[in-house]
Amino acid sequence: MQARSESLRLAGKRIVFVPTMGYLHEGHLNLMREGRKIGDSLVVSIFVNPTQFGPGEDYEKYPRDFKRDEELASQVGADIVFYPTVDEMYPANYQTYVTVEGVTLNLCGQSRPIHFRGVATVCAKLFNIVKPHAAVFGKKDFQQLVTIRRMVADLNMDLEIHGMDTTREPDGLAMSSRNVYLKDGEREAALSLSRGLKIAQGLYDSGEREAAVIIEAVKNHISSYDTNIIDYVKICDTETLEDIDQIERESVIALAVKVGLPRLIDNYVFGEPLAIP
Ligand code: PAF
Repeated sequence: MQARSESLRLAGKRIVFVPTMGYLHEGHLNLMREGRKIGDSLVVSIFVNPTQFGPGEDYEKYPRDFKRDEELASQVGADIVFYPTVDEMYPANYQTYVTVEGVTLNLCGQSRPIHFRGVATVCAKLFNIVKPHAAVFGKKDFQQLVTIRRMVADLNMDLEIHGMDTTREPDGLAMSSRNVYLKDGEREAALSLSRGLKIAQGLYDSGEREAAVIIEAVKNHISSYDTNIIDYVKICDTETLEDIDQIERESVIALAVKVGLPRLIDNYVFGEPLAIP
């Protein structure tokens, strides 16, 4: 992969990279379509990264379908699909990890303490292997995007990071590979995440700026479904990801909820449009 990238660079090509863990859905494909627009050579990686899953999480069960993924990626114009093995990425005696501090502490960092170390490490490695000029990430994983931007700035990595809006199902559910875990009858409960964001938007648009008031309304809606166990509903500064009491600068409402089996996340940056019916 490094040799391929080096020759693309020597030929003057702009390499755009979309890292994924596979089981591609329309959200991933939109990242790739964006990638196609902003570069000459589109590289997509498919690697279910063990270091970002904690003990008891769904690493083994994470859905995988490489053949289908490869086909879908080629259909939207991927030039190279890079799919390393775990032994290639983490050979025996592997010892180096990237830890991004402040922005990984809140939100998902509280219930998934090693997650962002795994994400930052694998992305640093993939950036060194693929040598992209730009990489595209989805805003659905808002904390991941902030973490990657922080790492790239702090470690002087020579690439641009593009953030893309969340792709949603027509009913508003944010697309996620983990949606396949939802059982019949859990759809309405899962929709409480996006509908909760809609409630937050409505309150904000009508002038509410008190974070606790908005959080309470969203929590009430989500917890009205028996299957739902709220991990967090928080309002944070979009740059530091620290909790805020009053919405005065650019802020995001982020939520994580266990809906039956899957733990789903979603978020909304106040003041932005929201494609939820
Ligand atoms: O968002 C994902 O699918 C993963 O966290 C990523 C960025 C591919 C790193 O494994």
